[in-house]
Amino acid sequence: MAGIFLTFEGGDGSGKTTQINRLVAWLESRGQTVVLTREPGGTDLGVELRNLVMHRKGFIAPRAEALLYAADRSHHIHTLVRPALERGDIVVQDRYLDSSVAYQGAGRVLDPDEVRELSLWGTERLMPDLTVLLDVPASVAKARQAAEDRDYDRLEAEAEDFHTRVRESYLALAEAEPERFLVVNGESPIEEIHQVIITRVSDLLG
Ligand code: TYD
Repeated sequence: MAGIFLTFEGGDGSGKTTQINRLVAWLESRGQTVVLTREPGGTDLGVELRNLVMHRKGFIAPRAEALLYAADRSHHIHTLVRPALERGDIVVQDRYLDSSVAYQGAGRVLDPDEVRELSLWGTERLMPDLTVLLDVPASVAKARQAAEDRDYDRLEAEAEDFHTRVRESYLALAEAEPERFLVVNGESPIEEIHQVIITRVSDLLG
């Protein structure tokens, strides 16, 4: 495909939003056409699914939760991301299938390979050109979130031990695919992280 597909991953409170906004501003200042989007919730259908899966009170069966995220992803990739990549745009996306493997797999109920395969089926096996993983210890992320003073969604409210497993899962994914992943220490200064990211993205732009 003509475009470039960049995804950001990391725990809640890892600083993804700040780095995504900086990267998008940098790309646009270089004259690139950027589509900024996210999962869950990058489409109209996705907004409905996002509300269901993140804010619904009460139990959602683990496989149902995985299917809801996968449904959001499938529709998002089909209707928004693939068309943008075919036009030659740069897609910068907050979370993709690695989130499902890390979060839905971290409950220890679902097999991470099956979770990944479900998303690959849903997206006709679209993989990012680059995935930036902002790595921070669960305790740091939690402290940052507490400072934000807002309502927690279902997954954010999980115990610290859950978030530690999410982090370990992300690091294992990055180790398994070192070419696709750029792992950055999320505790470094914002500007330093930005420089590391744009250096890598510059290589991709050629
Ligand atoms: P969001 O507010 O978009 O995340 P953040 O701002 O922290 O990046 O919330 C997305 C939540 O959904 C987050 O807790 C991670 C979770 N999630 C999954 O569990 N599986 C998935 O496949 C995706 C995309 C997100």
